[in-house]
Amino acid sequence: MMIQDSFGRIHDYLRISLTDKCNLRCFYCMPDEKYNFAPAARLMQAGEIKTLAKLFVSLGVKKIRLTGGEPLIRKDAPQIIEALGNLGIELAITTNGIRIHEMLPELMAADIRTVNVSLDTLQREKFISITRRDLYHRVRSNIELLLHHGIRTKINVVVMKGLNDDEINDFIALTDKYPLEIRFIEFMPFSGNRWTGNQVFTLNEVVDVVKSQYEITPIERGLHDTSRKYSIAGHEGSFGIISTMSAPFCEGCNRLRLTADGKLKNCLFSKTETDLLSALREGQEITPLIVESVKAKSKALGGQMDNNFKELNAESLKNRSMISIGG
Ligand code: GTP
Ligand code: 5AD
Ligand code: SF4
Repeated sequence: MMIQDSFGRIHDYLRISLTDKCNLRCFYCMPDEKYNFAPAARLMQAGEIKTLAKLFVSLGVKKIRLTGGEPLIRKDAPQIIEALGNLGIELAITTNGIRIHEMLPELMAADIRTVNVSLDTLQREKFISITRRDLYHRVRSNIELLLHHGIRTKINVVVMKGLNDDEINDFIALTDKYPLEIRFIEFMPFSGNRWTGNQVFTLNEVVDVVKSQYEITPIERGLHDTSRKYSIAGHEGSFGIISTMSAPFCEGCNRLRLTADGKLKNCLFSKTETDLLSALREGQEITPLIVESVKAKSKALGGQMDNNFKELNAESLKNRSMISIGG
């Protein structure tokens, strides 16, 4: 069986958020006002995650990415990783990198071959001001650890005008000797993150900055890729740009999301959610709920935005905060 939406897109990639908690406090991801973390009883338990993941795999899911909050702060993350590692699918993770040194054996045992690490700056002081924690050197050493173990590593950089757009070529410089893939991400609006169009540093702007110092060549794009990728002459690594705002890539979308409290989102920007966890706990059939949710998926951006992002009023969006979606 395959999960297909009304535009013919097959959904074979599931992102599961393990928790909405995090050991960092990035301002663009967490709402300003005091954030209420979901109480433990409302989160999917390890067994429930496994049951739902298995069901999705039986419906054709071939890749599962674990997200958060920060997925590796969950106490039972090792058991969950082990269980999902046995499902015969590609397992991946997006993390802030802080606990990699403690979790590496588990990640390797579950055959996780690519790890996406979020890091928005290469300056310790700026890292502290963005994340409100003094852990820059830990993240850097854990990135080295991943590379040392031959794990394919992508660095996610949310670029914000006036904050870190001056560091784009410092990130590119890292790819000279390291086989890293740097992904510059356009800043996206979520509940409580005070997004404005002026803060978005676009795909074209990033390309211009890199071109001013390096010779770059576009790499052919896979249908389901979030990023437009480029190689850099003479460098081990490469870079890409995730251009949700200025050049969305929804035509190739194959993604579904399960939040830590067990709600299915058919798009990162979906207004509506389907409560799979309650259904599971009440013994209802889950498959029809998934099929119905995917059928209702909008063509692009949850039906909430168009390409004209400069005009967008972020207050009008109906969604969660990023920390409770998982990206
Ligand atoms: P790969 O599986 O390696 O391709 O990773 P990814 O880019 O799908 O995932 P990651 O968790 O590293 O996310 C990087 C950025 O892409 C984050 O800002 C996500 O919010 C964003 N992103 C991930 N999936 C989607 C998507 O389906 N649509 C949009 N618009 N953005 C996405
Ligand atoms: N816009 C773009 N990317 C974001 N992320 C978190 N918040 C935002 C936002 N508002 C990124 C994180 C992480 C990934 C899962 O999503 O940096 O790398
Ligand atoms: Fe898919 Fe929604 Fe992302 Fe577009 S914004 S690629 S439809 S998840």
